[in-house]
Amino acid sequence: MPDAPFPPAPPEALRALLARASVPPRQLHDPAPDAAALSQAVAAAACAPDHGGLRPWRFLGIRGQARAALGALLAESMLKRDPTAPEARLDLERAKPLRAPLVVAAGAAIRAHPKIPAWEQEASAAAGIMNFLNALDAMGFGCCWLSSPALQDPEIKTALGFAETDRLLGWIYVGTPEAERPRPQRPAPEGFWRDWQPA
Ligand SMILES: Cc1cc2nc3c(=O)[nH]c(=O)nc-3n(C[C@H](O)[C@H](O)[C@H](O)COP(=O)(O)O)c2cc1C
Repeated sequence: MPDAPFPPAPPEALRALLARASVPPRQLHDPAPDAAALSQAVAAAACAPDHGGLRPWRFLGIRGQARAALGALLAESMLKRDPTAPEARLDLERAKPLRAPLVVAAGAAIRAHPKIPAWEQEASAAAGIMNFLNALDAMGFGCCWLSSPALQDPEIKTALGFAETDRLLGWIYVGTPEAERPRPQRPAPEGFWRDWQPA
């Protein structure tokens, strides 16, 4: 029998995938992953399928005082969308990035390509984010992938140093979970799979 092209996935890798769970940002504390752990998580992101080798994965770390500066940008963005937003609502927006020690703005660098449309590049970037989350979770860190209307605000993108053609896909809150996280009940897999039988 020929050798299998890949060794079977070690069961612990599968166990880690099946155990992954988001941690609410307020339950994430210091320490955030260090440079070595983040490097491994980004290396995992760079294992995502990538049509044409376009490498669309982009991760921007925001920590310390920079989180307050991000909060100010988020509040400005909200005020642009809703000039009547009350100060208390703006304060909530300002405080959001302070909930966890590390906020990662995750994006996709989209290139014009004759064969590879933007959606494929976004899909690869999203797959990269998923690998990033799985890697950090497997290392014992907690993460939560959140969105907000500010992701669509071109001024936020520019302020964070992303290119006009980049697409922001999420805010990833990262830290050490405050307690053993609850593992949510997951839906039965049968509902998501079917085999096609030609008529
Ligand atoms: C692109 C994307 C954006 C998301 N944005 C939000 C969000 O803004 N607010 C939220 O409560 N959950 C959001 N989620 C869902 C959470 O990341 C998380 O999956 C959810 O809380 C369920 O937890 P679980 O990952 O353990 O199943 C988003 C997920 C994705 C993939």
